[in-house]
Amino acid sequence: MVVVIQQKGGAGKSTIAVNVAACAGRSAVMSNADAAEGSPVVAAGIDVQGTLEKWCAAVREEALPFDYFVTHGKLGILPEVVADPERRRILVDTPGFMDVDPDASWGADPLGDSRTADALREVLEVTDLALVPITPSKITWDEAEFTIERILKPRGIPFLVVINMHDSGKDRAESQLNKVKSFIDERNYPRVADPIRRYTIHEHAYENGTLVTEYKMSGTALNAREDFMRVALTMEQML
Ligand SMILES: Nc1ncnc2c1ncn2[C@@H]1O[C@H](COP(=O)(O)OP(=O)(O)OP(=O)(O)O)[C@@H](O)[C@H]1O
Ligand SMILES: [Mg+2]
Repeated sequence: MVVVIQQKGGAGKSTIAVNVAACAGRSAVMSNADAAEGSPVVAAGIDVQGTLEKWCAAVREEALPFDYFVTHGKLGILPEVVADPERRRILVDTPGFMDVDPDASWGADPLGDSRTADALREVLEVTDLALVPITPSKITWDEAEFTIERILKPRGIPFLVVINMHDSGKDRAESQLNKVKSFIDERNYPRVADPIRRYTIHEHAYENGTLVTEYKMSGTALNAREDFMRVALTMEQML
């Protein structure tokens, strides 16, 4: 089971969870043996709002290459799905969690006491790998480090940093991109080699009910798909 986690909101957790699930689903091993069992790839959301469900429900059914469900923060659902051997890849989208205990001693669990914290703890207990989104904009850097140092490392959970929202138009010389790469590499964090680029089509994917695997064909659509396929491939290498 793979979790997409980052303390800071808006770094791209939901976008990555849904689109990497789509790439994994489109690359799933085909077998005639009992297709009624459901897709080997599952996307799950644990936030109370059920963001993932709203997005996936808007996707045409024949275009959805994975199954999805949301827990609305309820406990006990996810571990059951994880225990099902037919489910080969489960991608879990998590909410941002700003409500941490700043005074928690180093090594202690800073997640605190809340519904979100309990849901996160349940997820982390059955996690094989965490994807941590970070952006070239510094606004997400400290929270990426916090997520890794205070939440993932103490639990011994392997992680992979994913740079999201590289603006290949504005950051043509890649100076901002290189800064975030240095930040990650100085800390010896494993990362996906190249970033997910920022494209306007991603911004409307949620309300349009589209997946990167289904974008109308264009140069941008191909680049966008390659970005998420690369994340899916790197993720597979770490599992
Ligand atoms: N590569 C990208 N290019 C363009 N827009 C993007 C990209 N990635 C994410 N976005 C947009 O940025 C916004 C935040 O992304 P998203 O909702 O995936 O973040 P999140 O980490 O799940 O946020 P939250 O913590 O609030 O759940 C969304 O409007 C999304 O469409
Ligand atoms: Mg989200």
